[in-house]
Amino acid sequence: MPPRDFPLDPFWMPFTANRQFKAAPRILVTARDMHYVTEGGQRVLDGTAGLWCVNAGHCRPRIVEAIQRQADTLDYSPLFQMGHPGEFRAAALIAQLAPEGLDHVFFANSGSEAVDTALKIALAYQRARGEGHRNVLIGRERGYHGVGFGGISVGGVPATRKAFGNMLPRVDHLPHTHDLERNAFSRGQPAWGAHLADDLESRIIPLHDASNIAAVIVEPVAGSTGVLVPPRGYLERLRAICDRHGLLLIFDEVITGFGRTGRAFAAQTFGVKPDMITFAKGVTSGAVPLAGVIVRHEIYETVVNRAPPDTIEFPHGYTYSGHPLATAAAEATLALYHEEKLFDRARELAPHFEQAVHALKSVGPVIDVRNFGLMAGIELEPAPGKPGARGYQAFLKCFEKGVLIRVTGDIIALSPPLIINPAQIDEMAGTLATVLRQI
Ligand SMILES: Cc1ncc(COP(=O)(O)O)c(C=O)c1O
Repeated sequence: MPPRDFPLDPFWMPFTANRQFKAAPRILVTARDMHYVTEGGQRVLDGTAGLWCVNAGHCRPRIVEAIQRQADTLDYSPLFQMGHPGEFRAAALIAQLAPEGLDHVFFANSGSEAVDTALKIALAYQRARGEGHRNVLIGRERGYHGVGFGGISVGGVPATRKAFGNMLPRVDHLPHTHDLERNAFSRGQPAWGAHLADDLESRIIPLHDASNIAAVIVEPVAGSTGVLVPPRGYLERLRAICDRHGLLLIFDEVITGFGRTGRAFAAQTFGVKPDMITFAKGVTSGAVPLAGVIVRHEIYETVVNRAPPDTIEFPHGYTYSGHPLATAAAEATLALYHEEKLFDRARELAPHFEQAVHALKSVGPVIDVRNFGLMAGIELEPAPGKPGARGYQAFLKCFEKGVLIRVTGDIIALSPPLIINPAQIDEMAGTLATVLRQI
């Protein structure tokens, strides 16, 4: 291995056990298509599309060239009270992919920012239509909506909520939908649990009163807390309850957007139309940070048209909301998805992927396998007194054997780039089987 020309210590790594990592670092230096290469020269199959984002595969020339061209043409332009062609073109392309009627796009840079933006749009919309008292936001247990104070508050991840999660006071949570006793080893949507959506109408609405609630935010498939697939009929019920009581429904599609479930958005796969969709990650295949919110026509019209003329209707935005490099990457990525029919490919590969992951059913400590589209969760029985230890061991051993998986505690998540082929799916599942037999 060539000597490192950088120190490890000054960099405070995000969501990482810094001391553990720095004692035995894993450094990736290059990537192409389905593989990374480590500093020691080992090839690693990307079973996670980076962090659920590299949907078109790594270093695709079309995306790389678009970024290079843009950097040499217009590196940056102010994004407030000024525009550049790329942001308008990218917004139009994203709106075209979205469910009908969701036709306006606000740009941010990360999923966390997209979530905070969507929550603010919900409040701005309710205020603009004369219902400013609607300011309670409803999330869900085991929801992950990034790390802004808004996202943590509506989110349901104990570790992030513990320290910072109470900063937004007017928040409540639906129960999560995960139930191993009833739904373990479900293929696709589990049969049990649609009624859990009714908690919104039977408990939360009577407690707060519908006239005070602005919006409900959920991930259609919860990703980061372990791939929790919505029970059959659950999302439909949420939609119907929101409609009955005038609540906005936000789908956080930061992970499920751009083909992960076999269509552009999970909203289309499930046939349930939210009022807003947050997106990030796959919009540029991870190559440059870009995120945003797609909103229903009437939401944009209400916020914009009810404001006094010549005023900034929505006082919100980021220095990099629609950065030229990001929108160039998005245009190239969306073109690649279209040309290579990658969303269809994900849908076509899903049955093979399902077979491969469910073959892990009786292997080692596996207590559940669940899947939807090209995402799967494999849950392990925690080692006595050591929650998370088996998951971490599986992660390390797979990496040693050249496969990158992701773990949340003792749950393994797989979400490969949509360009994966059946042999690589088998390689990923085969390596995992070998490792799980050893732990
Ligand atoms: C559903 C969801 N929302 C929001 C986020 C936060 O995105 P970011 O890390 O880009 O801020 C994530 C990240 O994984 C996510 O899965």
